[in-house]
Amino acid sequence: MEKGFWKNLEKPIIALSPMDGVTDAPFRSITAKYGKPTVMITEFTSVEGICAGATKTLNAFLYEEAERPVVAQLFGSTPEAFYKATFAVCELGFDGVDINMGCPAHNIASKGAGAALILTPEVAKEIVRQTRRACEDWGAGKTMEQAGLHQNIIDWVNKNRPKNLSAKKVLPVSLKTRIGYDQITIEEWMKHLLEVEPVNISIHGRTLKQGYSGAADWEAIGRAATIIHQTETTVLGNGDIQNMAQAYERIQQYGVDGALIGRAAFGNPWIFKNKEGTVPERLEIAKEHTLIHQRIFGASYFMPMRKHLGWYCKGFNGASEIRQKLMHATSAIDVENILNSVILREPVAQSTGQTESTPQTL
Ligand SMILES: Cc1cc2nc3c(=O)[nH]c(=O)nc-3n(C[C@H](O)[C@H](O)[C@H](O)COP(=O)(O)O)c2cc1C
Repeated sequence: MEKGFWKNLEKPIIALSPMDGVTDAPFRSITAKYGKPTVMITEFTSVEGICAGATKTLNAFLYEEAERPVVAQLFGSTPEAFYKATFAVCELGFDGVDINMGCPAHNIASKGAGAALILTPEVAKEIVRQTRRACEDWGAGKTMEQAGLHQNIIDWVNKNRPKNLSAKKVLPVSLKTRIGYDQITIEEWMKHLLEVEPVNISIHGRTLKQGYSGAADWEAIGRAATIIHQTETTVLGNGDIQNMAQAYERIQQYGVDGALIGRAAFGNPWIFKNKEGTVPERLEIAKEHTLIHQRIFGASYFMPMRKHLGWYCKGFNGASEIRQKLMHATSAIDVENILNSVILREPVAQSTGQTESTPQTL
């Protein structure tokens, strides 16, 4: 088993959970600066899309040095497509490759990808094998051209490959999954996955059928951890963690090597530092995040930034009014103007975490 960066990580490992439409390069950049989780994982990207030459999806694979160790996540249902797409991940200088076996979305699971792979363990295992074979072949000198990667992708990678990458390394292969499809089948599922020796398994404590409803079942994650720990694979638990204290508590209680934090990091990069940003800090970071977003994606791609702005402006008096204004912003300048008018207007130094009806926080 190639362990790569995973073998040097201090435990407990606290990772930023991959989130499509959220953990893009600007969000990871701001999280690296103000939170610095142990590991970062990109949004997922379709291997079939990469094989068809869809370069737009590769924007998910932009990253900065400060994010390391940074892992690229792939999804799909075709082992051969994983083989080819992995060459792009290796070439881009990532520290690891992660396979999505947990997405419950209909448009993905109906094609046999994401959490639907729980129903086809033989395909899931072949995906891990082919991804690993690609990492090894790339390490041994096989090129993107020789792997048969689409020319659009080769051109995009050559243009966007970070400069000064260190020496070639064989990437470790990890995966992220759920506790079952329509019922909990974690014991059986783990046995299948461990046959192909992923370096790490991250487990979201819900079934596909549950989607995001109900509470994450950490007991089931704990049972998986017991099985996984009979091998060299590490295990990270995931689901509903709100802060670092809770993360440490669950890690200890359920015997996992660490945890992934997802939604609680919305508008809250400090979560990984066990701190809550004050309102002025949040507003300053909202501005900084917007500028990074503009630098990376260009001024015309502003709309995805709005949801982040909404998350930064929550939980204090007057937040809803500011949010409404921000929802009409179309540029970094608009955001700067709206937030400056708030910051200059009000004497501010309070922490967040209060309800929006509490008296003067700003
Ligand atoms: C908006 C959104 C997008 C997500 N996208 C991905 C993804 O691309 N890959 C993945 O493995 N999980 C994805 N997830 C699942 C999260 O990584 C995580 O497993 C889930 O949100 C539970 O963790 P939490 O309670 O800490 O948020 C996504 C979740 C959300 C809310």
